Amino acid sequence: MDFNRTRYIPMSRRRRIYEGKGKTLYEGPEPGTLIQHFKDDATAFNAKKHQIIEGKGVLNNRISEYVFQHLNDIGVPTHFIKRLNMREQLIREVEIVPLEVVVRNVAAGSLSQRLGIEEGTQLPRSIIEFYYKNDQLGDPMVSEEHITAFGWATPQEIDDMMALAIRVNDFLTGLFLGVGIRLVDFKMECGRLFENDMMRIIVADEISPDSCRLWDIKSNEKMDKDRFRRDLGGLLEAYTEVAKRLGILIENDRPAGSGPVLVKS
Ligand SMILES: Nc1ncnc2c1ncn2[C@@H]1O[C@H](COP(=O)(O)OP(=O)(O)OP(=O)(O)O)[C@@H](O)[C@H]1O
Ligand SMILES: [Mg+2]
Repeated sequence: MDFNRTRYIPMSRRRRIYEGKGKTLYEGPEPGTLIQHFKDDATAFNAKKHQIIEGKGVLNNRISEYVFQHLNDIGVPTHFIKRLNMREQLIREVEIVPLEVVVRNVAAGSLSQRLGIEEGTQLPRSIIEFYYKNDQLGDPMVSEEHITAFGWATPQEIDDMMALAIRVNDFLTGLFLGVGIRLVDFKMECGRLFENDMMRIIVADEISPDSCRLWDIKSNEKMDKDRFRRDLGGLLEAYTEVAKRLGILIENDRPAGSGPVLVKS
């Protein structure tokens, strides 16, 4: 398939497949593709808290593009094909595994609350957790036993997701460390891609400051969605700073970033 010759479909004529809290999925130009549109909606605590933060979608589209393109480049399979415009990207359609895969390097959020570990404590090793994607239940944490017993994923698929999660974590940790940011934790989603009688697990959805905890190395300042969750303000400024440090130009709509900007210690 030649994705460089993507047919332009006027927004009004596109078929909407899914309207999520932060993104909308539209039918793509070719079978097996979708268009992922990033909205400005910020939600937290199972959408009980909701606000429009103008420009957030544009930043998340760019940051997620940057991360997914690099993952593709180092051989970590993702759904990302290419960015189409300020808010949209062309992706491969997958069957989403109904789990959120969370990788933690430093204690924060629900881990700190549940286990009484002070936020900011370095964990003895990276920890992978699974949460069942179900808004009605508030995305409860589940074990591998639950996942296999209820058929959400097979043992092989769990192994594949964990292997992907570790590779993504190693890549993201290094990427952010190079620009003076500590990757505390992040969430990713996986999907099943069906290709000529074969099925494999790939990384889907988005990886952005909405789905990561990012702390400035020097000041420990939060540069992620916790600014919204905890009413700290300055969310757009923080996401812009992340994009700037990664060398993603957002002032004009240039297709490629200039590369990471090294931070001197
Ligand atoms: N490549 C893909 N193919 C199919 N579905 C995808 C793909 N990537 C992401 N999705 C799904 O598209 C939706 C994106 O919208 P959004 O993240 O706003 O949803 P949401 O409101 O957070 O709901 P959810 O709890 O399902 O994530 C999610 O349901 C996500 O699982
Ligand atoms: Mg989502």
